[in-house]
Amino acid sequence: MAPPELSHSSRSRLTSRLSHLFPSESLFDRLARVVCEAECLPRKELFEAWEMARRVRRTLRGGRVVDLAAGHGLLAWALLLLDDTSQQALCVDRRRPASAERLAQSLVARWPRLEGRVEYVEEDLAKVELGPEDLVVSAHACGSLTDRILEQAVKARARVAVLPCCHHVGERERKREPLEGWLAPDLAQDIARAHGLQAAGYRVRALAIPGEITPKNRLLIGEPE
Ligand SMILES: C[S@@+](CC[C@H](N)C(=O)[O-])C[C@H]1O[C@@H](n2cnc3c(N)ncnc32)[C@H](O)[C@@H]1O
Repeated sequence: MAPPELSHSSRSRLTSRLSHLFPSESLFDRLARVVCEAECLPRKELFEAWEMARRVRRTLRGGRVVDLAAGHGLLAWALLLLDDTSQQALCVDRRRPASAERLAQSLVARWPRLEGRVEYVEEDLAKVELGPEDLVVSAHACGSLTDRILEQAVKARARVAVLPCCHHVGERERKREPLEGWLAPDLAQDIARAHGLQAAGYRVRALAIPGEITPKNRLLIGEPE
């Protein structure tokens, strides 16, 4: 993994000047060097995407990857790199960052086998049609967007992995999650999400990515039983 002088939670951009910090031939270092050369991604996003992708791939292999609220879409690319049995990925965001294309070109230049395998659609994620073969992923879909993604995935009986963030705690959430009287409200919400998946007939895994990358580090994985 990355050297200690490189803060994993920094929002500053990775640039080609920093490539030397990732010297090895490990897949992570090779990916990090490509991200540095593309000069468009905050450091934090590299570590988040990688740590989420490798945990997801320990149990969920194959299928079309559908990265919802994808931002630059690095999570989808990392999932393809980690498991070549997923042929295609679809990234969906209502606003594709201008630099996502640069990142895509750099990744394809390094791994030509990925050419044409990642599609990016700029639209509301509610419009995406999902199926039971899909692997639905989303990193930091803010607040209730995570709930919408879980609902969509469950409706399609698709496998799903989310890293929730920006928990909103209003009157409605307090009524829905009574444990907020005992637990930190954001934790109560994520527990309710895990129970919701279980109640829908999903096997649930509650994991975490390293807390030094982000305090919003709970990784919720669900697979239909
Ligand atoms: C915090 S960013 C996360 C981006 C990326 N997943 C990451 O981890 O860096 C949330 C993203 O959700 C997108 N978004 C918000 N509402 C959306 C919607 N209804 N449909 C599609 N994308 C949406 C935003 O455009 C933004 O890119």
